[in-house]
Amino acid sequence: MAVNDFIRDNKDRFLNELLDLLRIPSVSADPKFKDDVFAAANFVKESLEKAGADVVEICQTKGYPIVYGEKIIDPALQTVLVYGHYDVQPADPYELWDSPPFEPVIKKTKIHPEGAIFARGSADDKGQFYMYVKAFEAMMASGDLPCNVKFMIEGEEEVGSDNLDKFVIENKEKLKADVILISDTHMISMQDPSITVGLRGMAYMEVEVTGSNRDLHSGTYGGAVANPINVLCDMIASMQDENKHITIPGFYDKVQELTAVQRERLNEAPFDLNEYKEKLDIDDVHGENGFTTIERVGIRPTLDVNGIWGGYIGEGAKTVLPSKAHAKISMRLVPDQDWREIAELFENHFKSIAPKSVKVKVKAHHGGAPAVVSDSSIGYKAAEAAMEETFGKRPIPTREGGSIPIVALFQKELGSDPILFGFGLDTDALHSPNEHYGVKNYFIGIETIAAFFRQFRKLSEK
Ligand code: BES
Ligand code: MN
Ligand code: MN
Repeated sequence: MAVNDFIRDNKDRFLNELLDLLRIPSVSADPKFKDDVFAAANFVKESLEKAGADVVEICQTKGYPIVYGEKIIDPALQTVLVYGHYDVQPADPYELWDSPPFEPVIKKTKIHPEGAIFARGSADDKGQFYMYVKAFEAMMASGDLPCNVKFMIEGEEEVGSDNLDKFVIENKEKLKADVILISDTHMISMQDPSITVGLRGMAYMEVEVTGSNRDLHSGTYGGAVANPINVLCDMIASMQDENKHITIPGFYDKVQELTAVQRERLNEAPFDLNEYKEKLDIDDVHGENGFTTIERVGIRPTLDVNGIWGGYIGEGAKTVLPSKAHAKISMRLVPDQDWREIAELFENHFKSIAPKSVKVKVKAHHGGAPAVVSDSSIGYKAAEAAMEETFGKRPIPTREGGSIPIVALFQKELGSDPILFGFGLDTDALHSPNEHYGVKNYFIGIETIAAFFRQFRKLSEK
């Protein structure tokens, strides 16, 4: 096939261009990288232009811009909308990287015997959305673009997509499409392709606990005045009971319980608990009683401390009762939990369990809705057929624990269930040091995307 020939003939260039994009440290969370985030947007714009888009715009927002591009070959044909993000997570802690996070290198691993690209953003999400740019280029170059295509690549996903809602709501006509594709998730393995049909939502909180009005000598006052770090730890610990059930009143009220049949189907996905533990170097897993690991991640909500600080953490020892303690706490949510409601329940509960010896402040950072998407739409069937072509195996539907709040927004505002067409693996170390993305995953992704376009046109015309 001409498209696949073109991909094969341009392998080195396709790879090198991704490496160039990965060299731009487009960390949206840290203002220090502001110019780089804008530079990444520009890189995406130029790549789309070179690939053959007619219209490419950098759409300014209150934050980082959204890159929009399109190629309409025939308004009567189907249109595919691609969403991705060019921003990346902070690379910290830098010292845990084996090579600098923004100097990509290709190294072989046990799971990626043909090599993986090590760099921040390689799997999340630059390596994944860039597959669409290259698939588009290959289809254009070989005169075989079966559908119209639109791109919407944003730069604020890792900080909550604050300005995307407005953009989507104000540009419904521009974004009109027959199917939305997002490659920003995982599949089970190269041997077991899968398509994600569920993602968790999120409510992200920050708390501050204050004891005395100043740091105190822990000898003079210790034992007589509350230590806010001790208190904070007690409060956090009390928010989960011995069954690892979250104790915030009302927290589970809207959680959809799956039927026995649904749970059985979910657990049919290939999963080896020993291998899972081995890869993470843990002796046991942990979680809510009565649920399997697949269920704990896919269909159950959580409460986790992401960071906790206060007191003295410098060299040596300092005896002190700190005045303040802080924590960042996130809750992963499942249908039909509403993140604003959960944030409010958390705030009320946190305040209610605080002893009188301290004062507390609670702030909600950002949140997002959970989502479940159809596994029987034409788009899903086309994705299934495309993966079957390239992997030689029919993918299975899975539910993942991560969050992409925009998915629920697309469902609500554009009335369309996105296809969560991820090609990364859960061992690719997203958000961690040594994030990587398989070279093979990158190329099979490009081929599968081209196959999707063919299949989607074919199945839509039936
Ligand atoms: N690509 C991830 C989400 C993801 C990862 C979904 C793996 C499924 C499997 C995305 O970039 C991300 O990191 N999302 C954040 C949420 C956001 C609101 C900051 C997350 O899940 O923590
Ligand atoms: Mn992502
Ligand atoms: Mn991410």
